[in-house]
Amino acid sequence: MPSIEARDLTKRYGSFAALSNLNLKIEGAKCVGFLGPNGAGKTTTLKIFTDLIRASSGQALINGVDVHKEKKKALDPCGVLIETPEIYPALTPREALSMISEIRGVPRQERAKRVEAVVAEVKMEEWMDKKVGKFSKGMKQRINVATALLTDPDIVLLDEPTTGLDPRGQAEVRDIVKSLKQKNRLVFMSSHLLNEVSEVCDEVAMIDHGKLLVYDTLTSVTEKFTQDGGEVEVHVDLLKDIDDKTLSSQVSPIAGVVSAEKVAARTLRIRMTGGLDDQSRLLSELVTLKIGVVSFRPSTSRLEDTYLKMIKDTL
Ligand SMILES: Nc1ncnc2c1ncn2[C@@H]1O[C@H](COP(=O)(O)OP(=O)(O)O)[C@@H](O)[C@H]1O
Ligand SMILES: [Mg+2]
Repeated sequence: MPSIEARDLTKRYGSFAALSNLNLKIEGAKCVGFLGPNGAGKTTTLKIFTDLIRASSGQALINGVDVHKEKKKALDPCGVLIETPEIYPALTPREALSMISEIRGVPRQERAKRVEAVVAEVKMEEWMDKKVGKFSKGMKQRINVATALLTDPDIVLLDEPTTGLDPRGQAEVRDIVKSLKQKNRLVFMSSHLLNEVSEVCDEVAMIDHGKLLVYDTLTSVTEKFTQDGGEVEVHVDLLKDIDDKTLSSQVSPIAGVVSAEKVAARTLRIRMTGGLDDQSRLLSELVTLKIGVVSFRPSTSRLEDTYLKMIKDTL
């Protein structure tokens, strides 16, 4: 089973700790989001795992092999995309990828086939023989992802693969990352974007100020934090106007409701505590009031609440 493991991983720059005693073991074919705001320590971690920089102390292990001690062996199963170099614009994907596959040691007789396969994986077949200089940023990034796949890696490490792309480019790259895990790979992708991690990943490791905050499945992380008294804001649209009396005598008293107010004649903003079960209960109680509920939506995603709360707690 593919694995990556950090043991007490620490990186200091002078007295500043960019990474402090990171302990994290990820095992199996799945996609794990490495989530944290800018400056959290994501790139530092990935650079240590690829031996681009050395840890001050602790160990980075890939399939149990120490990356600083046995770099070649440790990184052999890995495909990596960190600080992407620009592909020379006059080359086509076929040309660029053939050259890179040679550098990566893909056997000569397999190169052409591998190049075709990775270009197909990033859905760029039609562009195989067009010059990279004409590509959009998103297309270039798909080719960059393809370079990481040339050796058919079991482990794929991606550092903020969608950063700097327009929304469409981001969506395309996300789709590709999603499809990567179907091939029995361990995908470890850093991101400062919550929606991205929640859309793409099975698990999330949250980091801030060089410290791991949590590593768990997406579902457990959000569950745990809303049960810990996190407040959720819900917007409720109504078919007809609601009067203040109904609001204060019937909506506000519902269990779990912290506050209920009108933001427009037919829209309520309700702050509530609790998890998904409580939201579901609130909705059914609102429906029984016959106030004409037509929509019910939490205004921020639960993951976002969790993320913001966790980051705030570490400040
Ligand atoms: N070479 C360096 N010298 C000093 N500080 C650095 C260096 N590289 C990174 N840092 C600091 O380490 C922290 C973590 O950086 P980084 O790992 O790049 O964060 P992220 O990728 O999560 O945005 C930041 O505060 C950054 O300024
Ligand atoms: Mg970074």
